[in-house]
Amino acid sequence: MTPRHRLIVGNWKMHKTIPEARDFVARLAELLTPAPPDSMVEIVLAPPFTALAAVSTAIKSLPIGLSAQDMHWEDLGAFTGAVSPLMLKDLGCRYVIIGHSERRRDFGETDATVNKKVAAALRHGLRPILCIGETWDQRTNSQTEQVLSAQLTAALTGIEKDQAGDVVIAYEPVWAIGSDHPATAQQAHDAHRHIRARVTALWGQDAGERLVILYGGSVKPDNIGELLASREVNGALIGGACLDPLQFAKMLSIASSTT
Ligand code: PGA
Repeated sequence: MTPRHRLIVGNWKMHKTIPEARDFVARLAELLTPAPPDSMVEIVLAPPFTALAAVSTAIKSLPIGLSAQDMHWEDLGAFTGAVSPLMLKDLGCRYVIIGHSERRRDFGETDATVNKKVAAALRHGLRPILCIGETWDQRTNSQTEQVLSAQLTAALTGIEKDQAGDVVIAYEPVWAIGSDHPATAQQAHDAHRHIRARVTALWGQDAGERLVILYGGSVKPDNIGELLASREVNGALIGGACLDPLQFAKMLSIASSTT
């Protein structure tokens, strides 16, 4: 069996001041010493905007990448409160989470704005972590695949096949986020298969096979191994359980031991 690349992203949401962020990185660095997870596990932290600069400095000599949790699609302009892709690049971000369901639910994010943000991220060499997922009502009405297809199609409209390698998809069923009710390994596997099939239809076999699809929604040390067991699941987007360095390191170690 060939080893598999895994991407594990810690989404801090609206947590941690600058000193707390620095403490987290220092503690995580200790926990990853002497043996960080093998190079097949890529570690990314997504702190709030206010802590990006501090985390960027703190991770400089560590095998850890940086992501933002959102951005505007314009490079600059009169957009009070917004942060542009250029600013994220400045801070050393390689990734940016786009279309998280909390932004869709609470901040008026639409498929159209998600599409603009995905295009802007790619234009600036940032890898978008595009979040899609169904609500519980949609799942119980057998609309999961239809919803995932519609969100994917809308978000990727106009994106060229040669940019496919930079796109990461996060399957995050809305009902599983922060709920203590993760999707079962089978539900995640099925949804990821569907997403991969849609991307294959859009961009071809090669892009479909290479596509990195993360699972997100109540990932914890006690379920990450099972979720990552499917070859369709290439990593995890972790919220609540990533805030504690010990738990996060535990999940990295499990991801590493099951590649
Ligand atoms: P959770 O959040 O792990 O707390 O469910 C995941 C996410 O929303 O990215």
